[in-house]
Amino acid sequence: MLGLYDSGLGGLTVLAALRAAGIDQDVVYFADQAHVPYGDKSDGELHGYLTENLALLAGQRVDAVVTACNTSCAVAQHYGWPATPFPVLDLILNAGRSFAGTRHRRIAVIATAATVRSGAYARAIRTAVPYAHVHEIAAPRLVPIVEAGEADTTAGRDAVAQVVAQIPSDVEALVYGCTHYPLLDRWFAAALDPRIERIDPAAGQAAAAKALVAELGLPPGTSSTTYYTNGEPQAFEAAVRRWTGDTTGRVATLITR
Ligand code: DGL
Repeated sequence: MLGLYDSGLGGLTVLAALRAAGIDQDVVYFADQAHVPYGDKSDGELHGYLTENLALLAGQRVDAVVTACNTSCAVAQHYGWPATPFPVLDLILNAGRSFAGTRHRRIAVIATAATVRSGAYARAIRTAVPYAHVHEIAAPRLVPIVEAGEADTTAGRDAVAQVVAQIPSDVEALVYGCTHYPLLDRWFAAALDPRIERIDPAAGQAAAAKALVAELGLPPGTSSTTYYTNGEPQAFEAAVRRWTGDTTGRVATLITR
């Protein structure tokens, strides 16, 4: 069984990538909506949330954690990963690795303010592509719009347009350095120069997860997902059904803190 966590709905994009990669493991998904958005929190607060999220998933007896939150990976790279009895896949490191062999040299990354502050994406991409020019842009308005259920509205469209206006015109690729952003992809697709490739790191994370499942020798699962939030349960359930189309998954509230 795999554990996934995010500050909220963004990690559903990573879950979708796992399923698209053919991973049939049962999944426990935890949305730390009591603390969303992560992007404007301090490193100390974020490290505390990370520690609690991993402890919570340990309590669910997961075999491994597939992180679905870039911001907490960025903080962990600076302050260390909490000790866990299972392996934890770092989304940003796997995003960087997936650039090996790319032809892109000018790359924009949009991410939360905390992720941009850490420089973790530039480091990860330059490890794979040493001469890459990585331009990181904080996009703090996008997560609250997705969490408020406004991704499909003109608020989503206009906020994306403001971000796209900050992207240098000569970049070859745009990386979604926050798992919430692919939920706004339709607006990016409409506003961006079509020559700019839109890259969702979830695919690299899913490939790493698939390899890890094989390495651990985990028995086949049933592709079921249990979704937990410590936020508002009804809105969460509606959002989960909206974004995943999963009508069978169990949705529950966890009172954690
Ligand atoms: N979706 C998360 C990420 O990938 C966190 C977004 C937030 O809560 O600010 O960074």
